[in-house]
Amino acid sequence: MLATRTLADEILDLKRERRAILLAHHYQESEVQELADCIGDSLELARKAREFTGDVIAFCGVWFMAETAKVLNPERIVVVPDREAGCSLVDACTADQLRAYRKQHPDHVIVSYINTSVEVKAESDILCTSRNAVQVVNSIPPDKTILFLPDRNLGNYVKQQSGRENMKIWQGTCIVHATFAARRVAAAREEHPEARIAAHPECPEEVLAMADFVGSTSAIIDYCVKAGAPEYIVMTESGVSHSLRKLAPGKNFYFVPNEQCNCSECPYMKRNTLEKLRDCLRDLEPRVELAEDVARRALLPLERMLAVR
Ligand code: 13P
Ligand code: SF4
Repeated sequence: MLATRTLADEILDLKRERRAILLAHHYQESEVQELADCIGDSLELARKAREFTGDVIAFCGVWFMAETAKVLNPERIVVVPDREAGCSLVDACTADQLRAYRKQHPDHVIVSYINTSVEVKAESDILCTSRNAVQVVNSIPPDKTILFLPDRNLGNYVKQQSGRENMKIWQGTCIVHATFAARRVAAAREEHPEARIAAHPECPEEVLAMADFVGSTSAIIDYCVKAGAPEYIVMTESGVSHSLRKLAPGKNFYFVPNEQCNCSECPYMKRNTLEKLRDCLRDLEPRVELAEDVARRALLPLERMLAVR
């Protein structure tokens, strides 16, 4: 009797046929992460996309991340399982708003978080991710006023870490991290007094103040794997539990639900499914297509960021 081909088998066959790489963010469903060639945070995935040599990138993350991969690979096909996999931070700042700001403040250096549209990137001087934001800000001459956008919490955290006074901060937020409430973290800490707290810098200031460690998604995973404590309260999207369970099977991880959905899941990231991944590899749609001049202008701030160590 013939064994039934699973969805995973179909995806792996299509991946070979298409000479594709599957890149997955840590917030993807476990079954998607299982099939990925590389799982990472936004900086690691951008670096991976730059090294790629095949024909197709299937980006299992959100749309702005796939746009970034396309900017770095203009001649390759970049597909995303679901076109509606957006991000509340992308929606918080439009290119028109940024152009208007630039007109009023032509001397300000614009530092944009990677969670922005490609059009906003094209208007920016340098990009950053949650992993390198402090280093990026520190790389800018101290006499220059900075506009940091669009994440308010990351901006405040970077300002505090860098001691940079001349820094304006846009007021966008992530619907997942910004709605983690300090009182819920305090309750979790009471319940698990031995646990260390690790938080993503998109969390509110009061939550970051309670954290033993603040860092990007991959940095949080690294910390939880390497630190000595047996228990962790993890203040980020719960998709990280996939790597945490694998890399630190003997430890306990607790996720505190936010006020937005009473969960810790990103609704945009979770739009991608195995079925949609199969379909996008088969149909090569939804595909990222960028206006040539926008992609070219977005490349410069992206390259500047990648050059910062
Ligand atoms: P990372 O840079 O940690 O991957 O974060 C991206 C993101 O969207 C966090 O919400
Ligand atoms: Fe955007 Fe927040 Fe989702 Fe990250 S977790 S993709 S910042 S909405």
